[in-house]
Amino acid sequence: MLPGMSRKPRIAIVGAGNLAGALAVSLRSAGYRIEQIIVRESAVSRRQARRLAREVGASGVSAARAQIQSDVVWFCVPDSAIASAAESLAEAANWSGKVAVHSSGALTSDELAMLRRRGAAVASVHPFMTFVRGSQPSLVDVPFALEGDQKALRAARAIVRDLGGQPFTIRKPHKAAYHAWGMFASPLLTALLAASERVAVAAGVSRKAARKRVLPILKQTLANYVRLGAPGAFSGPIARGDVATVKKHLSILRGVPGAREVYIALARAALRDLPAKNRSGLEKILKP
Ligand SMILES: NC(=O)c1ccc[n+]([C@@H]2O[C@H](COP(=O)([O-])OP(=O)(O)OC[C@H]3O[C@@H](n4cnc5c(N)ncnc54)[C@H](OP(=O)(O)O)[C@@H]3O)[C@@H](O)[C@H]2O)c1
Repeated sequence: MLPGMSRKPRIAIVGAGNLAGALAVSLRSAGYRIEQIIVRESAVSRRQARRLAREVGASGVSAARAQIQSDVVWFCVPDSAIASAAESLAEAANWSGKVAVHSSGALTSDELAMLRRRGAAVASVHPFMTFVRGSQPSLVDVPFALEGDQKALRAARAIVRDLGGQPFTIRKPHKAAYHAWGMFASPLLTALLAASERVAVAAGVSRKAARKRVLPILKQTLANYVRLGAPGAFSGPIARGDVATVKKHLSILRGVPGAREVYIALARAALRDLPAKNRSGLEKILKP
């Protein structure tokens, strides 16, 4: 409900990609009416918009033709396209009294300044979650970082709570670091797993088998991290100070392009942040 409104706000979503798809379905399940999926004027974009619109009972329209009546407009386009997408919709609505939000983790609500000048209350609303094609993550207990105008924040908080999420406010100067943290939590973790698959192949294990065999240790590591914290979850030759074993790894990893650099960078991070024995011996062999 927007302040002073007795029903749930009607929502228009701009974009039909990974976040838009998952968000639209979750909003619909939480009882929100999605009125429009608004995209660019290309055949591919419009096809995607139509497909998503069908799924959530909305209509798919191009930005050039959109006439927006919705109370909330949620921009789910790449960070670099938020300001231009807002500009392309400047004439598509009477923005006075509306709420416009985007979901960039790194950028602030100022990306929507053009709509703020036209009377909209604006905010950035970032779910600390990963959205990829073919998956519909639950938003229950997902933290959402919020920043922006008071009216937009009130509306966003209510929507996030209806989705089961946990809204919290973030200061504008913190957004870049906040998003870099998120980068570690999922995209870089995935990059680490991708590099680890190449090491598995060097050990005679196929990538497919590696994905399956890694699961128990990965799950237990996450469980330990959550329950015991990083120092308590840390095991292996660095924790034990086993220089000879780390030397063996460094030697064999010369044959796995890229993986050695990742290993050294993370091992050095471990020496900085985590309990290790024989620290000086390890530091010597882990020079980049
Ligand atoms: N994916 C995640 O895990 C995740 C998590 C949290 C927040 N976010 C945020 O969500 C936003 C969208 O990310 P995403 O992963 O959903 O991206 P995406 O899957 O690449 O989807 C982007 C959508 O925007 C459209 N688009 C691209 N360029 C555009 C432009 N110049 N003007 C208008 N529309 C344009 C694309 O359609 P066409 O190119 O076909 O026109 C597509 O529908 C970003 O701000 C991102 O930071 C993403």
